Amino acid sequence: MSFISVADFEKQAIVKLELNALDYYKSGAGEELTLGYNREAFKRLRLRPRCLRNIAELNTSCSIWGQHLKWPLGIAPVAMQKMAHLDGEKGSARAAGKAGCVFILSTLSTTSLEDLAAAAPDTCKWFQLYIYKDRALTESLVRRAEQADFKALVVTVDAPVFAQRRADVRNKFSLPAHLSLANFQGAQCNVVSAAGDSGLSEYVASQFDSTVTWQDIKWLKQLTQLPIVVKGILTAEDAELAREFGCAGVIVSNHGGRQLDSTPATIEALPEIVRAVGPDLVVMLDGGITEGNDIFKALALGAQMVFIGRPVIWALACDGQRGVEHLLKLLRNDFDITMALTGCRSLAHIQTSMVVPESTYWTFK
Ligand SMILES: Cc1cc2nc3c(=O)[nH]c(=O)nc-3n(C[C@H](O)[C@H](O)[C@H](O)COP(=O)(O)O)c2cc1C
Repeated sequence: MSFISVADFEKQAIVKLELNALDYYKSGAGEELTLGYNREAFKRLRLRPRCLRNIAELNTSCSIWGQHLKWPLGIAPVAMQKMAHLDGEKGSARAAGKAGCVFILSTLSTTSLEDLAAAAPDTCKWFQLYIYKDRALTESLVRRAEQADFKALVVTVDAPVFAQRRADVRNKFSLPAHLSLANFQGAQCNVVSAAGDSGLSEYVASQFDSTVTWQDIKWLKQLTQLPIVVKGILTAEDAELAREFGCAGVIVSNHGGRQLDSTPATIEALPEIVRAVGPDLVVMLDGGITEGNDIFKALALGAQMVFIGRPVIWALACDGQRGVEHLLKLLRNDFDITMALTGCRSLAHIQTSMVVPESTYWTFK
C-alpha cells in the first residue's frame, strides 16, 4: 500500500466516498473554525528533545482501569462506519485489537453492540452512550454493553442538541436505505431527512434528551459498575463536576469541531483540565490528531490517552479493515520515532517541559 500518512488516506477517501457520506464525515459545525483550530494548535507547539538517553528498548505500554494497552491511542466513537466501507465498525474494532488499542463503539453505529463484541472478542471495547428521551431504552443500552463485555461507558455530553453542519443540511443527509442504526429497531433505527434538514439533526431532535444535567450522570452511576467517562469536556469547571459526580475519566473533546463552533482546540483546553483534576481522573483527549508527534504533545501536556476519529474513516474508506490496520501501524511507527528522538524510552520519561508554544522562541531580549 502506498499510503504513508493520514493525508494520503484522506486524499484517496475524498475520491472514493460519495458526497452524502464524505460531507458527513468531513464537515465541522458553522464556519468550521474549531475544526481548523484542532490541527493548527498542534502545529503551533514545539518539541524540546533530549539527547543521549539510550532509547534502544522502547516501552509505550500503559494501563487504564486494569486494561492493558500496548500504547495510549484509541479509536474515538464515530457513527455509521458502514457508509465508509462494509467492514464498518467490525473492521475498525478488529484493527484496533491487532494494534493493542481501545475501540469505542458509537451508540449510532451500523453494527450492533452484540455483533461487534462477537466480531472483535480480543479488542478492548468501550461503549459511547447518548441519553435518549426514552430512559428505559437508555438503560437497556447500558445493560447490553455490560453483557457484551464493554469495559467502560463513555457518555457524550457536548451534544444535547446537534449543531448545524451546513454540508449535511445542503445534502439533506440521510443514512443510505441499505443501512440502519443497528442498536435499535423501529423509529430509532432510521436516519432520514423528512423535514428537509439534515436527517441526523432531525433524528437527534426527536430522540435525544436535551434536558440532561449532571443528575443524569448520577442516575447512570447508580445503574452500573462500569467506569463512566464524560466526553466533550472543555473547561476546568466541568472537569471538577465530573470528579464530584463520580466519573472515572474525561475526554477533552469538541466533537472533532462538529458541535459548538469557536471553542478552543482540544490541545489548548487540555492544560486547565489537567491542572484541575489531573491526579484524580483519567484525562484523555481527541481532536485533530494525525501525527505521532501530536500524540506525544498531548501526553506531555498531561493526557493519559488520546483518540482519533476521522483518520480511521479515511483508512476504512480506502481499504476496509486492512486500511485501518495500516493506518495504526503508520501512527505507531511515527509515535515510536517521536519517543526515540525526544529521548523517551517509556511514557514515564515524557515531561511537560518537552512541549512549548511557538511564542517561546520569539522573545528577543
Ligand atoms: C463522522 C463523525 C461521526 C462522529 N460520531 C460520533 C458519535 O456517534 N458519538 C460521539 O461521541 N462522537 C462522535 N464523533 C466525534 C468523535 O468521537 C471525536 O470526538 C472526533 O472525531 C475527534 O476528532 P478527529 O476526527 O479530528 O480525530 C464523530 C466524529 C465524526 C468525524
